[in-house]
Amino acid sequence: MKKIKLKTVDSTNLEAFRQLEKYPEVCVSADIQTKGYGRNKSQWLSSEGNIHFSFGKIVEVDKVKNLSLKVVYRVFSLMKRHVSGELEIKWPNDILLDGKKAAGILIESKIKGNIAKVVIGIGINYSYAPIEESAALKDRISISKQEFVRLLIDELQTVFNEKVDLRILLSFIEENSFFKKGDIVKFYSGEEVVTGVFKGFSPDFAIIIEIEDEEMLFYSGEVKKVRKS
Ligand code: BTN
Repeated sequence: MKKIKLKTVDSTNLEAFRQLEKYPEVCVSADIQTKGYGRNKSQWLSSEGNIHFSFGKIVEVDKVKNLSLKVVYRVFSLMKRHVSGELEIKWPNDILLDGKKAAGILIESKIKGNIAKVVIGIGINYSYAPIEESAALKDRISISKQEFVRLLIDELQTVFNEKVDLRILLSFIEENSFFKKGDIVKFYSGEEVVTGVFKGFSPDFAIIIEIEDEEMLFYSGEVKKVRKS
């Protein structure tokens, strides 16, 4: 694996895609990102002290299946082992510490025929919380930043080759989910906003929301909790 450590970059995800033109497996990290971004093209505030890195790999397309589920499971499990406090998974791939966002994951892929260039970008509020609704790990984690990043990369390197039991993974995610069955939630996708009851996750990790007696599956978008069950 080619490792690239930068002081400043536009986005480690963008840089990882550029590096995949030269190397089949890369890891790009940067102290500062000037154009860090998250899902739905949101901005990811990225100043020195926090963790910003992307792991990129060229794989066969079938390896991309259920990747989001596997990555969030692995990152969350690693955090569970080393971070104290209440950790939860907020669908699809945010990790909350005591109800506030501590980590975000952005998986992007470019597919041509049977080959996919996949980039898994991870942003972790290690030293400081950039906004009111976010949390930093620094005083809650038992290992150094360098060690934590090293372990995260180890997890990502194996995620493409593991055989997993999806039912076990999904039930683990439901157990540790910020959304609990019966919660009233609001789902936002572009202009569309709907309110319904959270029912769980489908085997391919869509969120299931019951709206007017009908269960609907959503694969991307933003969900907010309106009322606890
Ligand atoms: C999200 O919460 O929507 C995902 C945020 C992902 C941010 C990380 S920081 C490293 C990598 N580079 C980016 O530009 N984004 C990801």
